[in-house]
Amino acid sequence: MTLPSTQKQYRLVRSGHHGSFTLSLVGAPVRPPGEHEVLVKVHAASLNRRDIFVVHGQYPIGPRDSVVPLSDGAGEVVAIGPGVKRFRAGDRVAAIFFQAWLSGRPSPQVLGSALGGQLDGMLSQYVTLGEQGLVKILPDLSYEEAATLPCAGVTAWNGLFTRGRLQRGDTVLLEGTGGVSVLGLQLAAAAGAKPIITSSQDGKLERATALGAVGTINYKKHPDWEKEVRALTGGLGAHEILEVGGKDTLAHALASLAPGGHIALIGGLTGFGGDVPVMALIASNATVSGIYVGSRADFEALLDFIAKHHVKPVVDRVVPFSSAPDAFKLMEAGEFFGKIVIGVQ
Ligand SMILES: NC(=O)c1ccc[n+]([C@@H]2O[C@H](COP(=O)([O-])OP(=O)(O)OC[C@H]3O[C@@H](n4cnc5c(N)ncnc54)[C@H](OP(=O)(O)O)[C@@H]3O)[C@@H](O)[C@H]2O)c1
Repeated sequence: MTLPSTQKQYRLVRSGHHGSFTLSLVGAPVRPPGEHEVLVKVHAASLNRRDIFVVHGQYPIGPRDSVVPLSDGAGEVVAIGPGVKRFRAGDRVAAIFFQAWLSGRPSPQVLGSALGGQLDGMLSQYVTLGEQGLVKILPDLSYEEAATLPCAGVTAWNGLFTRGRLQRGDTVLLEGTGGVSVLGLQLAAAAGAKPIITSSQDGKLERATALGAVGTINYKKHPDWEKEVRALTGGLGAHEILEVGGKDTLAHALASLAPGGHIALIGGLTGFGGDVPVMALIASNATVSGIYVGSRADFEALLDFIAKHHVKPVVDRVVPFSSAPDAFKLMEAGEFFGKIVIGVQ
């Protein structure tokens, strides 16, 4: 196969090292793979809330004035460097969020290796990545489905299974129907747990019920939704909680936690912050974890679980590459369920 020397890619550009970025479609060289690198033809990329924060200059990506956005993407290996052992041409792959976090605890260097942040991301027709920064994807996942997993899927996995201790029969609480929460719902349901999910829209709650939610709560109609969680669990509360709401939801989530439960601090949809009720957490023997996506080992464990349980990640819609800026607008508007994907030709 003859490889192109140039490609199209989107870049976020700003004047200076601070403030908001503007998204532009640009021409760029296709970089041939080095000794231990792999050239991937990207087929699909997906958005996370973090990508909106990046656009607005509200996410730490280092002193950069330009970056290719999106951490999440999947595609086909089209060329490999001479020293590559893990892949060959034709393999279907997805990139890992932190290119240098393979397993175990992250080092400070690892936490500085995020795609679409400190490193250029996936909204590009081709990417050249180190062979360690990719995983093989399953034959029964489409590129679009696989592209939903590197950030949202691995985060939900880490929160529920690596740092959490999800058991069959546990109650799991998910907040809202965005990427992390819907994947968390699907994983919890597949594991035989009892998911309860909140949303601002009843129509989205109906979709969540079809995916296995045993309890649903409209958080607009029930601002003190911990009472609903207690009512749905016979007063006990939830054993595992993926806390993505942040400042305005943290107190409600903590008040929804069962004794011995675990809350994964993940997000700041309403802003980052909130008080932690130390005595109440001690008295209930609770565990609180800070979660920052996860490692390649987490991603591989997630893929094994998905294969075993035939989980199909929810792709709300696929936006064409030429209309990628619309995908960012759709995400800002909140009119989606699960994940927004960009098809890359
Ligand atoms: N720490 C990490 O590693 C990590 C990884 C991934 C994401 N995150 C963070 O986690 C959060 C979620 O990310 P995401 O990509 O899943 O977001 P997303 O897909 O953009 O989720 C948006 C949805 O969140 C729900 N939401 C908004 N305000 C809410 C509130 N007050 N209470 C409950 N739900 C609310 C809404 O659901 P409804 O429309 O149903 O109301 C909205 O549609 C973000 O803050 C993100 O930065 C962190």
